[in-house]
Amino acid sequence: MLPPADSLAPEWLVVPDDANDLASGVWPASAARDADGVLELAGVSAADLVRAYGTPLLVLDEDEVRGRARAFRNAFDRAAAEHGTTAQVYYAGKAFLSTTVARWVVDEGLRVDVCTGGELAVALAAGVAGAALGFHGNNKSTAELERAVQAGVGTIIVDSPIEIERLAAITARSGAVQRVLVRVISGVHAETHDFLATAHEDQKFGFPLAEAEQAVARIRELPGLDFAGLHCHIGSQIFGVAGFRESATRVLELHATLLEGGPVPQLNLGGGFGIAYTRDDDPAPIELLAGEIVSAVAEGCAARGIPVPALSFEPGRAIVGTAGVTLYEVGTTKDVTVESGGVRRYISVDGGMSDNPRTALYGAQFSARLASRVGAGEPQLSRVVGKHCESGDIVVDHEYLPADLVPGDLLAVPATGAYCTPLSSNYNHVPRPPVVAVRDGRSRVIVRGETIDDLLARDAGIDGAYAPEGEK
Ligand code: LLP
Repeated sequence: MLPPADSLAPEWLVVPDDANDLASGVWPASAARDADGVLELAGVSAADLVRAYGTPLLVLDEDEVRGRARAFRNAFDRAAAEHGTTAQVYYAGKAFLSTTVARWVVDEGLRVDVCTGGELAVALAAGVAGAALGFHGNNKSTAELERAVQAGVGTIIVDSPIEIERLAAITARSGAVQRVLVRVISGVHAETHDFLATAHEDQKFGFPLAEAEQAVARIRELPGLDFAGLHCHIGSQIFGVAGFRESATRVLELHATLLEGGPVPQLNLGGGFGIAYTRDDDPAPIELLAGEIVSAVAEGCAARGIPVPALSFEPGRAIVGTAGVTLYEVGTTKDVTVESGGVRRYISVDGGMSDNPRTALYGAQFSARLASRVGAGEPQLSRVVGKHCESGDIVVDHEYLPADLVPGDLLAVPATGAYCTPLSSNYNHVPRPPVVAVRDGRSRVIVRGETIDDLLARDAGIDGAYAPEGEK
């Protein structure tokens, strides 16, 4: 019989039979416990990783990233072929970008979506061909656009009338012809498990559908710009296909109108495919989603009597999210009696909102497990918190962990491969952790951890003098 749920636990959190189990879908497929009960990832023991690299530590399972990249490519290739078209998958680098990860996904046949000059530089440093890049952003500077055009970036996704004129000037100077997509707001904003449609979304990205026609007309007049089609991204951590379907229907309406004025060879429907952070999340397999989304586009095209365009997608989280596991060391535990009378166990780890701000920023839910051994205690409702000077510094809001957990134990938080390292900071002068890749029983650093010296290196020191008047 299951123990009774704690009165402070949210309804969705199930008391586990075994607070040491590794819920399938939440962890990389390689996650297991060795004969001593120690967590291992790709055959590498978490205890050995911590001995070699310290804590906190982000561990990224290479085969999990590659496998997911392949699954996306195959699923969309197959779905597109069934409807007589093609599909490209761009990995959204904002989820996690390093030269190594860029190489993995390109090896698996993906392209890369970047959204700043910094991400562009990393992708180029990884040797990704310019032609395999898509460049996003609502405020790309002239310098960033110049760099992109010069690097031969395959597609720039234009976001505003000002950007169109900036690109017109750059291409006029260089003589290049730049392929562009126009980002539109379909009015569908998909939020987690549900989606919400509003006619006039009040946000910064893209062109409202009603204004996009004029933007396309302007692009078509410009000799340096090659209009390739429309782009639309409806949100992130989306579970169903309803939002994609609704958005595609609306965008196809404009796509069909634009065909009257010239070719519209492509349609990019963005990213947003959700992953499991806790056992309560149940994302549909990508094969199913790809099939349904591409079918919805094909049906929309058939209804309008237009050809199915070449499709593109931009998954980020779904490629790297599940591949990442963060390891922490437990520093203190504390049982706090809360007003309602319940007791909540606080478990403090040696990182926090500086390496994973998603809980503090979005109220995101994560899960956790003891990594250095199998706990013998009953499942106890726990909150995993960081070491920062802020009460909102929560890593895992609600989790059942073995009651015998003590300082010195290692704790693993799964599904931290996406949007943790990219959003990490030095808050409270806590150095950012390294990222270590694991594969076939071996490990290697792919992003160096920061040291206190790194932090001090940016401090200009106390001996500086103001420049004399007239100088900077
Ligand atoms: N394409 C565009 C144009 C995007 O803006 C995004 C994400 C993606 C693709 C990739 O979306 P994904 O497949 O990863 O859901 N920091 C937030 C997520 C921000 C997403 C921003 N755009 C988080 O931690 O949940």
